[in-house]
Amino acid sequence: LLLDYSGVWRYRELILPAPEPYVIARPEGNTNLYPVGMENCPTGRVGHRQIGTYAGLDLFFLKHEGENPSGSFKDRGMTVGVTMANLLGATAVACASTGNTSASLASYAAQAGMKGIVFLPAGNVASGKLAQTLAYGATTVQIKGDFDAAMSLVEQVCNELGIYLLNSLNPFRIEGQKAIAFEILQQLDWQAPDWLILPAGNLGNISAIGKAFRQAYDLCLITQMPRIAAIQAAGANPFYRSYRQQFARRESVKADTVATAIKIGNPVSYARARRIIEVTDGIVAEVTDAEILAAKAMIDRAGIGCEPASAATLAGAHKLVAEGVIKRDERVVGILTGNLLKDSVTGIPQQGSGIIVEANLDAVRKVLAV
Ligand code: F0G
Repeated sequence: LLLDYSGVWRYRELILPAPEPYVIARPEGNTNLYPVGMENCPTGRVGHRQIGTYAGLDLFFLKHEGENPSGSFKDRGMTVGVTMANLLGATAVACASTGNTSASLASYAAQAGMKGIVFLPAGNVASGKLAQTLAYGATTVQIKGDFDAAMSLVEQVCNELGIYLLNSLNPFRIEGQKAIAFEILQQLDWQAPDWLILPAGNLGNISAIGKAFRQAYDLCLITQMPRIAAIQAAGANPFYRSYRQQFARRESVKADTVATAIKIGNPVSYARARRIIEVTDGIVAEVTDAEILAAKAMIDRAGIGCEPASAATLAGAHKLVAEGVIKRDERVVGILTGNLLKDSVTGIPQQGSGIIVEANLDAVRKVLAV
């Protein structure tokens, strides 16, 4: 069965028991869980171990969701969302996006033969994501406004025009993204980690992962609930602001960060995410753009690589361990949400095209200084 090859549909009893002929899958998931801690990193992997050293963790794993078919974790929700659209007989699907959801929607809509329509904040989407969205043939509408404006617009458009909405407001997207957590648990032989760290923007993913852990716990698949640490960029930190005041009120900000994927000022899944932080005894933290870029450089130079928003995970681990919130010997899983190639500009060092030399040995010798 195709379904058994998918890291989402393998768990279909806990997600959506859809009949196989209706399922739109590439298939997705089966992403690597890299052991990168100071203790659990294999001896040969010097570069990888530097990540654990930077975080200050003995038992640290990175789940690379950038290894999904379209290069981000969004594929896990999109396969379920587009399958549901297919079951409902929808002919058009739409979303607002900072780039990854749109790339994923465009891919799955194309596969299903549906019209894909995406609303992007003009000038604020990394080039790799825009290229994918256009290549897969989605109708691409660039809004003169930020993500939050695009988000409220797409809700209106879908309501008025009867188009199937595939933002994470859609519960089937959340159901699919639960598979990230199930797959992590399976890779860890159902020994739940102490902490799960992830970047937080529109707050769909934290809602999905929290729900999955809760389900796994209720089904006695795990005996301990992981604590969740949601990391926001300091310039796009409405969830952190609410958390800081014990969620006394919902906050919104005018977002600004180099991590365009999470440049979101008014997250739609606030209520669900707040509940997850409460029931998992979780925390919310913020990291600066400089901390995000330093962490990204660390992940890139280890040979793993990720997009800027994903690096908030390592920046958060580094900060929370330094503050003593996460203990050095706790088992920690961090999620890398998107692929390095999504954004080939932000935080990529030095000369864009490497060193340019004449095609002879002497010239090469000179630049290599050997
Ligand atoms: N990391 C990446 C790479 C993302 O693309 C996103 C969200 C997040 C983290 C945050 O996840 O929104 O569930 O809290 N990207 C959305 C998009 C907004 O349109 O692609 P979240």
